[in-house]
Amino acid sequence: MKSQGITVNFSDANVDALAVAVFKDEKPTAAELKDLDKLTGGLVSALIKAGEFKGEPGDTALVRFAPKGSVKASRLLLVGVGEKADYKASDVAAVAGTATRFLRKRNLKSFALLPRCGSDAKDVAQNAMQGFVTSQYELDKYKTKDKNENTVDSFVLCIDGAKPADLKDGLSRGQIIGESMNFTRDLANEPPNILTPTEMGKRAQDMAKKVGLKCEILDEAKMEKMGMGSLLSVSRGSAQPAKLITLRYTPAKNTGKKGELLGLVGKGITFDTGGISIKPAENMDAMKYDMTGGATVLGTMRAIALLKPTVPVIGVVAAVENMPGGNASRPSDVVKAMNGKTVEILNTDAEGRLILADAVHYAEMQGATRIVDMATLTGAVIIALGDINTGILGNDQAFVDEVIACAKEAGEEFWQLPVGKDYSRMIKSDIADVKNIGPRGKAGTIIGAVFIQEFVDKAKWAHLDIAGTAWADSVKPYQAKGPTAVAVRALLKLVENSQ
Ligand code: BES
Ligand code: ZN
Ligand code: ZN
Repeated sequence: MKSQGITVNFSDANVDALAVAVFKDEKPTAAELKDLDKLTGGLVSALIKAGEFKGEPGDTALVRFAPKGSVKASRLLLVGVGEKADYKASDVAAVAGTATRFLRKRNLKSFALLPRCGSDAKDVAQNAMQGFVTSQYELDKYKTKDKNENTVDSFVLCIDGAKPADLKDGLSRGQIIGESMNFTRDLANEPPNILTPTEMGKRAQDMAKKVGLKCEILDEAKMEKMGMGSLLSVSRGSAQPAKLITLRYTPAKNTGKKGELLGLVGKGITFDTGGISIKPAENMDAMKYDMTGGATVLGTMRAIALLKPTVPVIGVVAAVENMPGGNASRPSDVVKAMNGKTVEILNTDAEGRLILADAVHYAEMQGATRIVDMATLTGAVIIALGDINTGILGNDQAFVDEVIACAKEAGEEFWQLPVGKDYSRMIKSDIADVKNIGPRGKAGTIIGAVFIQEFVDKAKWAHLDIAGTAWADSVKPYQAKGPTAVAVRALLKLVENSQ
């Protein structure tokens, strides 16, 4: 996919279409809209007046007009953005993505975008390019026909008064972020017979080599030696051996706080049958997405390697398959985690927390002082927050607040749920230190989090339950259905703001 982006006056752009952001219930009195209205012989105001175009997010209307003067385009696409007062740089990703998908469907190849966003031009450019790149992602890798082969090849960005160097920088950052989000989505989409834990390790290694990250993969023998009995208990029922993948990014110059190391930890269950506590058949196929937390870590680390922030980051992915084989864990088994705590496994389907127990401890042993873990951990978070907000929980309020603020800045929505002694008491086991489930139907997402918390020692820690937000059940104007790459942008903001 080619892409270019420079400031030009839209009227000089040699493109198939002009795309312009339009606010909710906007009258075409602003200078840019007035010009476009004139260009189209009054069609913009006619559409708005007739109520055919309301300017809600995702609304689109296409107008054909006769090219005039220096204007070479013959189409104008109105793209709704909603309330003007709420419009910010991160919304430009959806505007650019909506325009891209709309034009791609009509086999058009290029457009000029007027985002009409007053935020920092570099930020606007970054989001425009990211939306352009992520909006063209499709799920058809394994189709042998009926693939969507149309692409919009390029767009030019029209921002009055912006410095070309800022735009160039924003656009190249946006491309890295968009492509890294697509990398995460590609992994999440892979069928589980192809993306085994071993294959996930290979993909991580290939990526690391390409972008210049250090990659280390522990096999089961090594994990056994290190005492990762909790993680290995999940892998035991599978013919596929588990892998613990570690990626390391070290900046040329470290401007972060001395001794600080951010650790990103991901749940990489390549398929979750539930194990002996087996899941019902209906919708079990969606459990191929149970490695999305891990894919998020890999995509984020890819972007970090290319964006080169001035703080170190380590990524840890526990890649494991949860199957009900002859060696599988039984409900009532007791295992010992790497930090020495014993766990009574009462439900083998609560496996994400078992692998994360050892993965977060391992990250801390590697020096992580701040940890964010990502996991499709509980069905309960879908009941609580639907597919809009990612659940966030943690042991340090200031750190949780920081991650929520970064998400907001990046255009993502995180909502905090509580933790605390009264919840932690609910996972006390009769015969071991902790059990891996709480009372049925009570605070499922919190129970998952306080279990993981047992394995965090001194690090500041935030847990993201992405079970509701990791993939979308339906197509959006700016995005295919399937994996969303949720949290990648929020984590990159966190890294950026830690410099
Ligand atoms: N991977 C699932 C959680 C999940 C469910 C993710 C639906 C996405 C969509 C997880 O391993 C699981 O099975 N959790 C159980 C925990 C329970 C046994 C305490 C759940 O949420 O039902
Ligand atoms: Zn499960
Ligand atoms: Zn799971």
